[in-house]
Amino acid sequence: MTESFELRLKSIPLNNGRGRMPAVGFGTLIPDPAVTRTATRDALEAGFRHFDCAERYQNEREVGEALQAGLAACGIAREEIFVTTKLWNSNHRPERVAPAFAASLARLRLDYLDLYLIHTPFAFQPGDDQDPRDENGNILYDPGVTLLETWKAMESLVERGSCRALGLSDITLEKLLPLYESARIKPAAVQVESHPYLPETELLEFCKEKGIAFLAFAPLGHGARPGPLEDPVITAIAARVGKTPAQVLLAWAVQRGTALLTTPKSAARARENFNISPLPQDAFDEINGIQIRQRLNPVVQTGVPGFIPRGTPA
Ligand SMILES: NC(=O)c1ccc[n+]([C@@H]2O[C@H](COP(=O)([O-])OP(=O)(O)OC[C@H]3O[C@@H](n4cnc5c(N)ncnc54)[C@H](OP(=O)(O)O)[C@@H]3O)[C@@H](O)[C@H]2O)c1
Repeated sequence: MTESFELRLKSIPLNNGRGRMPAVGFGTLIPDPAVTRTATRDALEAGFRHFDCAERYQNEREVGEALQAGLAACGIAREEIFVTTKLWNSNHRPERVAPAFAASLARLRLDYLDLYLIHTPFAFQPGDDQDPRDENGNILYDPGVTLLETWKAMESLVERGSCRALGLSDITLEKLLPLYESARIKPAAVQVESHPYLPETELLEFCKEKGIAFLAFAPLGHGARPGPLEDPVITAIAARVGKTPAQVLLAWAVQRGTALLTTPKSAARARENFNISPLPQDAFDEINGIQIRQRLNPVVQTGVPGFIPRGTPA
């Protein structure tokens, strides 16, 4: 087994003793339904075994179709893949949790989920409108439900057996701590923006201490240019080690002990983004030494998704 093989097949044990999360994950935040299908299939064929979905992305149906067809065609068993989806902000009321979960499961054509996340800690006005706003365009939040009440409803899903693990997304350490203390079923994963410009070191240390999988979204800085993909430290290392800047950023994320989500939209990019290999220690240290700090996605502050392609539902 080569080192490269080991890095891309690395997985993180879940703190509930129920399996492992493959470190290199495929994110399905893709606006176009046809591209969702082809990209999901390409990712599966390139070797991705971790798929990140959300009801908010409004494409669980296409992901489900692609996974069902891809698993059958490639002879891959359901147990060999790890599938996550997320409860959206307008479904935080406890009575809305089980129906939202069941609807996601049906769209994804699955009979269990490996991980169910609260998409953001911000409750929006309950209902089927994912983006409820007042006449001035301001988001309508829901002061009538707490994060812990939503979490308790999620715990019932685990007890009923169709959900293996729970977690939170777009969460800060400050909000995670009280929930962690009160939760009967401890969070198994957190999903947050993270890349060399936003290493989230304190949150990562807490997660490592508690055995919580830290799942980095935007490991390529959402593709922003300028951004991590064009950072001179990253491009110089890429040239030195004979890898692309994307492969350097993804390898760094896995090497520091996080899982990651990336969204290649073609077969060639899927192979590129999956085919990562360990960085030499000096290169790893150089990336840790980058001083720029930049958050690209404001969702963690408001619950309103940012950096989403214009005109898309997510
Ligand atoms: N929890 C949350 O609130 C939240 C928020 C955002 C995302 N997510 C999850 O995280 C996933 C990943 O986020 P992301 O898509 O922003 O991550 P990303 O991989 O950091 O960024 C994707 C961008 O990078 C570009 N790209 C991909 N592979 C590349 C390569 N090999 N070389 C150069 N550019 C490359 C893409 O370009 P093209 O468009 O040209 O392909 C796209 O613009 C999402 O799909 C979703 O599942 C979660």
